[in-house]
Amino acid sequence: MTIIKELKNEHEAILLTIRILDQITTRLKSDQTIELDHLDQILDFLAVFVDKCHHSKEEKVLFPAMEATGIPREGGPIAAMLYEHVQGRSFVQGLKSGVDGYRVGKDSSATEIIENAQKYGKLLTSHIDKENNVLYVMAERVLSAEKMAEMEAAFNRIEEIEVGPNKHEEFHAMLHALKSIYLN
Ligand SMILES: [Fe+2]
Ligand SMILES: [Fe+2]
Repeated sequence: MTIIKELKNEHEAILLTIRILDQITTRLKSDQTIELDHLDQILDFLAVFVDKCHHSKEEKVLFPAMEATGIPREGGPIAAMLYEHVQGRSFVQGLKSGVDGYRVGKDSSATEIIENAQKYGKLLTSHIDKENNVLYVMAERVLSAEKMAEMEAAFNRIEEIEVGPNKHEEFHAMLHALKSIYLN
């Protein structure tokens, strides 16, 4: 599997999570009780799989490699992607704050969860579309096979250090379980 394919597969897992989260917020909007445990699992996925793993691969490996070929960071697509990662983190923080509030019965917490989940879903869906169709296409054009192989080793190190052994599989099993609850 090429590293671009690996990143695209991770995008599919992120999009699936967004669809699950959307179902949870739909239940919340109609005043149904929700499983906090499921939101905790999703928050863990967003913090570890998405941010520590996927975004690290892009920020620490892919984007610098693209910059090294002469694609500027400032004012171009890389800067735009980095900015969206920052925005995404703030929505995840908001979502976490909403979940923490919901746990202790805070009034505004349902709204906080719904708003941040919607903003995050919208942002990441368009972010992924831009990466898949613009940035990754550019990467495949400018990066040599040798460079890609080097990057694969760096990706594996990020998996080991940032995520830990077996964690990737655990996340996929968790998503599979949540999918069968919310999307069937
Ligand atoms: Fe990204
Ligand atoms: Fe991405």
